[in-house]
Amino acid sequence: MHIVHTLTDLRAALAGRGRPAFVPTMGNLHEGHLALVQQAKPLGDTLVASIFVNRLQFLPHEDFDSYPRTLAQDADKLRAAGCDILFAPSEKDLYPQPQTFKVQPDPQLADILEGHFRPGFFTGVCTVVMKLFACVFNAGPGVAVFGSKDYQQLMVIRQMVQQFALPIEIVAGATCRADDGLALSSRNSYLSASERAQAIELRQALQALAHAAAQPGAQLAALEAQALQRLQTQGWQPDYLTVRQRSNLQAPAGAPMAGELVALGAARLGTTRLIDNLEF
Ligand code: PAF
Repeated sequence: MHIVHTLTDLRAALAGRGRPAFVPTMGNLHEGHLALVQQAKPLGDTLVASIFVNRLQFLPHEDFDSYPRTLAQDADKLRAAGCDILFAPSEKDLYPQPQTFKVQPDPQLADILEGHFRPGFFTGVCTVVMKLFACVFNAGPGVAVFGSKDYQQLMVIRQMVQQFALPIEIVAGATCRADDGLALSSRNSYLSASERAQAIELRQALQALAHAAAQPGAQLAALEAQALQRLQTQGWQPDYLTVRQRSNLQAPAGAPMAGELVALGAARLGTTRLIDNLEF
């Protein structure tokens, strides 16, 4: 596996290698990331992964400084998973000047849910993903794989690729879960032992919400309020638990249609903010 840090070295490593299959990450890799790598590997000629903790997608009070940086261990895992090229730029490599040009996603999709509670988050994500795509796919088309745990992120990236006519196929990877069902996340490492035991309650609340919302005559607003209260009673600080249309993440108009819906949630347990979702 080549480990490169600069754009020049990345392009040299990619030269003559054919269609890249790309997995962008912020590092601190877990089984979920490695499953994306396994999924991406047969989709291209060269498997490229990136590790870059992107300052632009963190709010000032968030965990940019404390986000776990574990490059040596991550490189070992990627090598074992069959990665061909690891692109791990420094901030100076990826943003040699302040990044004043930004990609502004559609507010209808990007200013709700995660974007409402983390203003500017998707501008930061789209800007770095556009830049990483420009680095990895400068010689031609390819494929990139994103995890479905970040459901809204996946939708925003798909829309960006479609609207800018980028020659990149976006593939969704299934959410990997621990034995108790907790979605794997780099931020799970922030949880204390007792919080980790409790963390499955977010998924349980989404399961209960989806089950109730699928019943005939379901009143979504009341069910969402109950779901929020359930988590609050369990000691969480929820941002949202909601049922949306899969197609555009808007609230369902009229009677909810099972099979076209997704329950999405974000909540803080102690200082750790977790997200999850459930299609139904
Ligand atoms: O999902 C992530 O890890 C990040 O948002 C991404 C896509 C690597 C962009 O920094």
